[in-house]
Amino acid sequence: MRILFIGDIVGSMGRDQLQAHLPKFKQKYQPQLTIVNGENAAGGKGINEKIYKQFLEWGADFVTMGNHTFDKKEIFDFIDDAKKMIRPANFPEGTPGKGIGYVNVNGTEVAIINMQGRTFLPPLEDPFRMIDDLIEEAQQRTPVIFIDFHAEATSEKLAFAWYVDGRASAVVGTHTHVQTADNRLLQEGTAYITDVGMTGPYDGIIGTDREAVMKRFLTQLPVRFEATKEGKAQISGVVIDIDEKTGRAKKIDRLLFNDDHPFFA
Ligand SMILES: [Fe+2]
Repeated sequence: MRILFIGDIVGSMGRDQLQAHLPKFKQKYQPQLTIVNGENAAGGKGINEKIYKQFLEWGADFVTMGNHTFDKKEIFDFIDDAKKMIRPANFPEGTPGKGIGYVNVNGTEVAIINMQGRTFLPPLEDPFRMIDDLIEEAQQRTPVIFIDFHAEATSEKLAFAWYVDGRASAVVGTHTHVQTADNRLLQEGTAYITDVGMTGPYDGIIGTDREAVMKRFLTQLPVRFEATKEGKAQISGVVIDIDEKTGRAKKIDRLLFNDDHPFFA
């Protein structure tokens, strides 16, 4: 089974990239399942129902989230009905939404888990302690388990991936918005990348207007951050091949296309 995962879609530029390029990606790579991270999709922070539905219309099968899940208040109106969206599983008990979802792909079930790191991010429940139960639950139904680990620190992402090596088919890192070149298969068959990178403005600072970010660093004063709305754009992702009988990954390739390296010139 082939899974295409598209990294953090940032603001209107990210959405435009997805709409423009996803059909071509799907044609070229022929994935059976397409997952996108949508936690920055609405103006850089959060998502709304309209955008969630657009992602599905444009060809995504499932949406994962992260630390900005609840930034748009409309999320509370639809998250419990959004069957194809998950938020980090380690939010406190009782938080709306869910952290694990299942998709049927031509008769094979795929479990998708979203988890958030705690280093330089809010102190959610321990993702390491929590993943054991979630994997056990998923294994009752399928060996194919895909995890979006939304975290800041490389060390936490690597430690998490090695912790679940052989129990998850893939651990893809999201959140830093800069693609890392360490895609690989771990010893027991888990596909891994520290960060998939983001989809959206190429000339912003991790997707945000440069002026605002520089002002924050120069003055240390509060500055309103906005997703960059014009200029060069990029799209980032990974393609992962998984043996659906064993759940072991066979291959993980990076995709990174921007105006310096156009996909379809
Ligand atoms: Fe994030």
